[in-house]
Amino acid sequence: MPTPHTLIDTTDFAAAVTTLRHAKRIAVLTGAGVSAESGIPTFRDRLTGLWARYQPEYLVSIAAFEREPDVVLRWHNWWREQIADKQPNAAHHALAQWQQQAQAAGKTLTLMSQNVDSLHEAAGADVVKLHGTLAHEQCQNCGMVFEPSHIARMHLAPPATCPHCGGRLRPAIVWFGEMLPPEAWQRAERACQRCDVLVSIGTSSVVYPAAGLIDIAKHHGATVIEINPTPTQTPAVDIVLAGKAGEVLPLLVNALD
Ligand code: OAD
Repeated sequence: MPTPHTLIDTTDFAAAVTTLRHAKRIAVLTGAGVSAESGIPTFRDRLTGLWARYQPEYLVSIAAFEREPDVVLRWHNWWREQIADKQPNAAHHALAQWQQQAQAAGKTLTLMSQNVDSLHEAAGADVVKLHGTLAHEQCQNCGMVFEPSHIARMHLAPPATCPHCGGRLRPAIVWFGEMLPPEAWQRAERACQRCDVLVSIGTSSVVYPAAGLIDIAKHHGATVIEINPTPTQTPAVDIVLAGKAGEVLPLLVNALD
């Protein structure tokens, strides 16, 4: 079995491979760390320069949007610019390949992501988008979602308003203080209640309810594997692969083939 060239404990790597080979239902939860090697700063790294005086939790909150919408929208546009030219990295590709491999073997791999950068989809994966997507706009009033091409066709300059009800358009992502999309949450919750293994990758596991999916899986008897160069010490984790997602995942997925 190939072993990672990072500092990952080979016993832990072997344990992860054995566990995953026996698993029929796998749930994978990803966070900002999966996109770090694409050049996108992780969520809690992001606020540099112009935005250094803001707390990250503030700028992605409904309270901030209600108080100072222009600042919040400007910050989201800046965030969009940061990710506009970024490409999926080895971790995104390995996860998409793993999902196809699992399906071909009659297994299920439910990929659930907190990321709003669309890089999992760009790599060809089917993703449960827990926090929505920065690629779309949504009406704050009626909830209607618009694709960028639609907005361009309507010649709506920011700050744009909804052509149906006049409400303010905003990024179609979940902010602090808002509910997760019910359909995405139900799909994720079901996958975690039924999975044999949950793999948590590149998330600090502090933002709920997404982080609670790890506990749901554990509570229903799943083994929990974490891939993170700075392990989070989450109590539910059974096996830690302390390396970068873009290095660990290709090795892991190849070992499972
Ligand atoms: P965080 O920024 O909180 O955590 C990123 C995690 O990735 C940290 O634990 C890092 O150690 C780890 N990491 C860094 N580089 C990595 C690499 N190359 N490979 C693997 N892991 C790496 O991001 P999230 O946990 O995703 O919500 O944050 C959760 C949510 O908080 C976000 O979705 C965002 C924010 O509120 C919204 O915007 C709604």
